[in-house]
Amino acid sequence: MRLFKRNWKNHWERVYQKHTPTEVGWYQADPEGSIKLINNTGAGTDSRIIDVGGGTSKLSMHLLEQGYSRLTVLDISGKSIEKAKLQLGEKAGMISWIEADITKYSLTEQYDIWHDRAVFHFLTESEERKGYIDALNQALKLNGYIILATFGLAGPKKCSGLPVVRYSPETLLKVLGDNFNLVESVAEDHVTPTGVTQNFIYCRFVKQL
Ligand SMILES: C[S@@+](CC[C@H](N)C(=O)[O-])C[C@H]1O[C@@H](n2cnc3c(N)ncnc32)[C@H](O)[C@@H]1O
Repeated sequence: MRLFKRNWKNHWERVYQKHTPTEVGWYQADPEGSIKLINNTGAGTDSRIIDVGGGTSKLSMHLLEQGYSRLTVLDISGKSIEKAKLQLGEKAGMISWIEADITKYSLTEQYDIWHDRAVFHFLTESEERKGYIDALNQALKLNGYIILATFGLAGPKKCSGLPVVRYSPETLLKVLGDNFNLVESVAEDHVTPTGVTQNFIYCRFVKQL
């Protein structure tokens, strides 16, 4: 059976049923790398931002605190969305939530900023990456930005028990396609809750004609 045929939803539902938001390896108290690149776009607080595979990340909470008011969080796991809403309390009502597999989903809105930390690198099959990039091209506005954080070339080969693809800014650009240009990239050493250091790259690309 090819990996693409496996049921990723069941995997992620189990992860979020079993672990609290602060136990997962990708937990960050302060998603400062993502926030810096979002702020670097110069986008106003009325910009439409989508966090793809947002899970129980604190990014949406930090963005709400900074005044960003048109936020969407999409995730394949309904359990992660339930837990993310609980974390936010009544502020959860300020966010649009979508439970969907981004590799097979057509967004109906257009966004100024597409953010993804630690989702794209799980797409090890070309069909999955094509589904993701089709959704991206359909939903990201012209001159909009995608902020992609993946494991770097020195990063782990697996995460959450799943194989990943490791990237450099150049290989990410190649997979995104000719209509994207690299604006900036930053390396980050993420330390997991159990003390393991993981090499990430954060890249900001602009969508052009
Ligand atoms: C490693 S976690 C990262 C979560 C969050 N971005 C963060 O940085 O804390 C990966 C997330 O992507 C979600 N995910 C995995 N595959 C997905 C897919 N095909 N479509 C939407 N979400 C997906 C998982 O449920 C999980 O929340």
